[in-house]
Amino acid sequence: MSQPSRCLKSLNSFALNANAQEIVTLSNLVQLEQFAQQLPKQFYILGGGSNSLFINDYQGTVVCPDFKGINVANTEDAYLLEVASGENWHDLVHYCLANNMPGLENLALIPGNCGAAPIQNIGAYGIEFANVCDYVKWFDFATGKVEILSKGECDFDYRNSIFKGSLKNKGIVIAVGIKLNKQWQPLLNYAGLNELGSSPTPKQVFEQVVAIRQAKLPDPKHLPNAGSFFKNPVISQELFENIKLQYPKLISYPLTNGDVKLAAGWLIQECDLKGKTIGGAAVHKLQALVLVNIDNASGSDVVALAKFVQRTVFKKFGVNLEPEVRIIASSGEILLENI
Ligand code: EPU
Repeated sequence: MSQPSRCLKSLNSFALNANAQEIVTLSNLVQLEQFAQQLPKQFYILGGGSNSLFINDYQGTVVCPDFKGINVANTEDAYLLEVASGENWHDLVHYCLANNMPGLENLALIPGNCGAAPIQNIGAYGIEFANVCDYVKWFDFATGKVEILSKGECDFDYRNSIFKGSLKNKGIVIAVGIKLNKQWQPLLNYAGLNELGSSPTPKQVFEQVVAIRQAKLPDPKHLPNAGSFFKNPVISQELFENIKLQYPKLISYPLTNGDVKLAAGWLIQECDLKGKTIGGAAVHKLQALVLVNIDNASGSDVVALAKFVQRTVFKKFGVNLEPEVRIIASSGEILLENI
């Protein structure tokens, strides 16, 4: 189960050049049980590597879950899928579409594996993983047992879940349960999807999502990146009104609790940072929320650029941007403000 290579470059979509002390792939329960019995002092669980930024060599074990398999059951109203955590997310979206089980098409082309979907509560174009989640199958390191967490127990929130909170490093997602209602309704709230008319087919929605993503978001295979680098910030109504007075074009989404979510990409763009580079790292020219590795960026380049963006946006708007990507230093996950 241990791989001879310790190099993480091909295992992270930002293509940062870092090594781990050891890389371990776990692909069955026996391996997982053995791993849990001798937990390394320091370890980091890596899914598809599309949301992790290794800024130094990692002084611990990187664990890559590689469970495979998709099971489909049927009820009168829904398709119930159990998908192993090592399955590729986009391949799953494609599989569902090809087998007439629509419901995931708005989440097409999100890089990474299915096991990461509940951790980040991945989301795009009006849907989050939480909307389709039935349960999460979880291996608990302390008990050595497989548990089922219901959707409610996962504490899903915007790019957040219990797996980033109280269950962090306490176990591994081995599979996700997904429920797709047979009464499919297209979700077309997002600008760009509403031009499909009122009754598009799932395939048309899928193709439109793919087209929108391809037009704005760089493909990590050609231009290494980790998707949105920052979260869209949530601010108070009061701060929102102050900023809006000065910047009437401010893009915002009201939340039910009275707070307001802003489009971080717009804030960064208004600071004239599109295309800004530090070393080999750059703010993407087409989508300012994405930082890209244009020329062998080092971890320090990315950190310096992220901090520069954060500082500049704060100076202009008084809004703090919090990274969405997880930053991994030599001794483990670290907050940008602590670097
Ligand atoms: N915008 C700009 N300039 C930019 C970027 C965006 O003006 O450089 C404006 C857009 O025109 C739009 C608004 O800001 O009016 C929002 O932009 P966009 O629709 O591209 O989405 P986003 O808020 O930047 C979020 C998710 C993406 C997801 C898209 C679509 C986060 C942090 N990001 O991005 O998810 O694909 O919505 O739903 O919530 C990811 O998490 O890695 C990711 C790519």
